[in-house]
Amino acid sequence: MATSMNNTLVFLLVCGVMLSALAPSSADFLTDEFKKWVTEHGVKYRSKAESLKRFGIFKANYLFINESNHNPKIDFKLGLNKFADMTNKEFLAKFTGYTALSTKPASTSFRYADTTAPSSIDWRTLGAVNAVKDQGQCGEY
Ligand SMILES: *[C@@H]1O[C@H](CO)[C@@H](O)[C@H](O)[C@H]1NC(C)=O
Repeated sequence: MATSMNNTLVFLLVCGVMLSALAPSSADFLTDEFKKWVTEHGVKYRSKAESLKRFGIFKANYLFINESNHNPKIDFKLGLNKFADMTNKEFLAKFTGYTALSTKPASTSFRYADTTAPSSIDWRTLGAVNAVKDQGQCGEY
């Protein structure tokens, strides 16, 4: 009787430890990825608040890229580039002068680095051409 109670208690304790170890480890993983990325790109943030906000955006982009790279229907691989802490909207505003007049999402091959082929720059150039055409529809061409 006492032994089975002890076993149950040990089981619950082990599960508790495993659960509490799992949750922070995935957060720590992304924190580490963010720190690596910040160091690699020499990024500096003005404040802790700015850094936290950028970390949130980085996480979303990271998870998006990860999902895309695990999707068997998508035959190219995306990678983190120096724009990884920007939202799609900020990215378009900064590099094309495009403001969200259209709800069309940014082409992923333009937004993120295509790590599949060394000719990725050609693809981004194609993406940029498409973005300019989109502006044309807004009368800014
Ligand atoms: C990446 O995506 C795969 C497939 O959805 C998932 O199993 C894995 O946990 C993800 N990795 C991270 C770091 O989110």
